[in-house]
Amino acid sequence: MFIRGIGRTKFGVLSNSLPVLAYEAMINALNDSTVGIIDIDAIFISNFLGGPVNGQLHLNSVIASLIPEVNIPILRIETACASSSVALNQALHCINNFENIMIIGVEKMTGPGLIPITDAIAMAGDYEADYKNGLVFPAAYALIAQQYMRKYGIDHSLLEEIAYLNHCNSRMNPLAHFYYKEVTREMIRSSPIVAEPLNLFDCSPVSDGAAAVIVSNKKESDRDIEILSSRIATDTISITQRRDLTSFKSTIVASSKAYNEANIGPGDIDILEVHDCFTISELIALEDLGMCGPGKAIELIENGEISINGSIPVNTDGGLKANGHPIGATGLAQIYEVITQLRSEAGKRQVENPEFGMTQNIGGIGGTCGITIFGV
Ligand code: COA
Repeated sequence: MFIRGIGRTKFGVLSNSLPVLAYEAMINALNDSTVGIIDIDAIFISNFLGGPVNGQLHLNSVIASLIPEVNIPILRIETACASSSVALNQALHCINNFENIMIIGVEKMTGPGLIPITDAIAMAGDYEADYKNGLVFPAAYALIAQQYMRKYGIDHSLLEEIAYLNHCNSRMNPLAHFYYKEVTREMIRSSPIVAEPLNLFDCSPVSDGAAAVIVSNKKESDRDIEILSSRIATDTISITQRRDLTSFKSTIVASSKAYNEANIGPGDIDILEVHDCFTISELIALEDLGMCGPGKAIELIENGEISINGSIPVNTDGGLKANGHPIGATGLAQIYEVITQLRSEAGKRQVENPEFGMTQNIGGIGGTCGITIFGV
């Protein structure tokens, strides 16, 4: 199975509506590929907040309205922030019945204001056990950060370095939410606390945007990149049911199955996109994916190993932190970056000769994890 086309919009605070964003990503993916819309046999649409935030459900028919000339099956998938990698996974399960499937991820989050959007995002957590006790997402990840920092004896400066690296990378990605913004270590250090110990720069922003990919059971061009594995794993929705907050079991399970299927190990990955919805989750992802042992991600960061010229470049597009996090599009944006890198089309942020790439896309607090591995 192959990725035959990729497309996305800019991420950020955008004026376009949800259908317009989806349309732009779809057209960009078609233009990037060797297929036309009449060659697409089905579409999987990934979105989390269309109902509560945009007053729009029945998204498969919304997408059908953008392409009235075809009346193909269209299906919506929702697994919170992991929706788009799960949509890709489901499309791959169907691909043998079709030739080309498009997956579109879209989210329109800006507009309602911070409190309504924070409440809406909280639907990705447990309503009874977490939300009713005030555990909205920044607060939940703050508890995770507190536990990690206590366990491994680190202070906030390491998280600041993760934010800084991601913001530096986003300055080389014109489509990133924070492409326009030069960020210094001092700005990060002195930014206001959101939920102790996490400050503004530990958080991914509230973003609008869309991304799309076309998967196929045939390779027709040198730019088509093979999908070596796509695996999904799940875990409890509430962190009150977790003993250890410093590791996400769903990442460990999904990635170990994906490595087995792709017949490679963590050391073979040349380009990695991880789900850094908060800086602490980037540290945890590196460990859960086997890039190092528990508590050792600190050394990877301190030694510069995750920078573009390091041994394992991570989030070269700026990550969720600085590329942005339009929830339903995020997993596909990670795939967009890995495919761009594997095609050697990433310009200033290009990693040298990558052969294998991987994405880790989390829903909620590790309640879902989608891992996808690609190879040239
Ligand atoms: N990182 C860095 N800068 C950010 C930022 C972020 N995450 N969010 C906003 N900013 C900047 C804005 O660009 C703006 O800068 P400017 O004054 O130079 O234009 C400034 O901060 C104020 O922006 P505003 O939109 O008013 O911020 P806010 O206070 O309403 O929201 C957060 C900030 C961190 C609370 C919000 O982005 C948030 O809730 N993020 C988490 C989203 C989330 O939970 N996603 C799901 C994760 S699983």
